[in-house]
Amino acid sequence: MKTTLITGASRGIGLEFCRQYAAEGWRVIACCRHPEKSDALKKLAAQYPGKIKINALDVADHAQIEGLAKVLDDESPATGSIDLLINNAGIYPDSGKKGFGHTDYAEWMQAFRINTMAPLKMAETFARQIARSKQKTIVTITSKMGSIADNGGGGSYLYRTSKAAVNMVVKSLAIDLKPAGITAVVFHPGWVKTDMGGPGALISAEQSVSGIRQVIDRLTLADSGKFFGYDGQVIPW
Ligand SMILES: NC(=O)c1ccc[n+]([C@@H]2O[C@H](COP(=O)([O-])OP(=O)(O)OC[C@H]3O[C@@H](n4cnc5c(N)ncnc54)[C@H](OP(=O)(O)O)[C@@H]3O)[C@@H](O)[C@H]2O)c1
Repeated sequence: MKTTLITGASRGIGLEFCRQYAAEGWRVIACCRHPEKSDALKKLAAQYPGKIKINALDVADHAQIEGLAKVLDDESPATGSIDLLINNAGIYPDSGKKGFGHTDYAEWMQAFRINTMAPLKMAETFARQIARSKQKTIVTITSKMGSIADNGGGGSYLYRTSKAAVNMVVKSLAIDLKPAGITAVVFHPGWVKTDMGGPGALISAEQSVSGIRQVIDRLTLADSGKFFGYDGQVIPW
């Protein structure tokens, strides 16, 4: 049985990843900040007894990340391996802001903690468990808004820079982890109907995640360091 560890599993795209991988028979380590308040995730876990394990994880809390790795490591080597790490948790701190001239620098730092630093900390902490799995893959959910080539709209300084920076994190990860056989890529999930994307977005979480999963299924080490759309198209940096 393959294992995936998913951050930001309480709602939106993360919850949908849990749903689809559990339905396919994977073991899902579903991480969310507040398990007690994550009713949709608890309901999903009840539908797949023994498949979805809910863990408390704030990705900005490095001690908590290390604690989770220890818990998983203490289990048997078979269940302690992670085939697929999905760095999904993210924030969009620019909504409702006035843009240039009104930058909230404290919030910018928080966006970097969650959107940029956390995926690297997760990779650093779980690399050993990923390396001893079959699939050996790290997927990080970025955004086209982090593409410098695609920026025709300006603004959204906090989000855009945190996602552009995580793209660079993953490019370096792809190089550093290649000797361990680990594939690391970033995905733009599309404009998705979630709390972040809003009701006017173009696609459902179901469409986004099933597209991303199809691309993940075909990934090889030669793809490491690429920036994909949910439909498999390569996006310019
Ligand atoms: N929706 C879109 O159109 C779109 C487009 C491009 C990229 N993305 C990216 O896709 C990913 C998922 O977005 P979404 O649309 O599903 O957003 P969402 O509905 O707002 O969900 C965000 C998720 O991230 C979690 N999260 C936030 N801060 C966290 C922290 N410090 N530690 C752990 N979890 C945290 C939230 O947990 P709580 O429930 O505890 O708040 C929630 O589970 C994000 O990385 C986002 O940037 C989304």
